[in-house]
Amino acid sequence: MSKTIGILVGSLRKGSYNLIVAKQMAELLPAGYEAKFIKIDDVPFYNEDLETETVPDQWKRLREEVKSVDGLYFVTPEYNRSVPAALKNALDVGSRPMGKNVWGGKPGLVMSVSPGGIGGFGANHHLRQSLVFLDIPTLQQPEAYIGNIVNLVDNNGKIKDSTVEFFQLITDKYIEFFEKLTK
Ligand SMILES: Cc1cc2nc3c(=O)[nH]c(=O)nc-3n(C[C@H](O)[C@H](O)[C@H](O)COP(=O)(O)O)c2cc1C
Repeated sequence: MSKTIGILVGSLRKGSYNLIVAKQMAELLPAGYEAKFIKIDDVPFYNEDLETETVPDQWKRLREEVKSVDGLYFVTPEYNRSVPAALKNALDVGSRPMGKNVWGGKPGLVMSVSPGGIGGFGANHHLRQSLVFLDIPTLQQPEAYIGNIVNLVDNNGKIKDSTVEFFQLITDKYIEFFEKLTK
């Protein structure tokens, strides 16, 4: 049976560079794997008061979708040296109610993408801090700080070949990691 990798993109923008990277990563998945983009832009802010028998539909949907996937890719911009609120909110919603964390045990990959030279290092590591607590084992190497993204995309809005080669390496390492963990 094929394995599904859930992809969460930290940017909500239509023309997002992170979305371009995420789509390229989805295309590079090998045979036997498929990508499922998990929507986070409509998920109400986490509020414990709403944690009743009838939680918001979007919370239910997010939790079910995360449960249904085998692995997780997080592709995110850096906002003020940290993780965008929408992505952090999705993590929080999936982590509750207490004892029902839906993220745990699914092999993860973190990629941060920025027009800046530091490649979203701050967001990448703030995200990793939360993934430790959520029990998402995360690929360590190669690290994926994708800086100067504006220069890595061609006129047709596609990732240039030299960068695709690096993305292929990340994919190969992730799949090796995934298979080791899920054997
Ligand atoms: C609120 C906000 C904060 C930002 N903070 C940072 C930052 O700390 N580091 C950085 O490299 N870029 C920062 N940026 C610029 C983003 O990297 C840039 O807008 C990028 O294109 C966002 O990713 P996207 O194209 O996928 O939407 C920030 C952008 C916004 C809107």
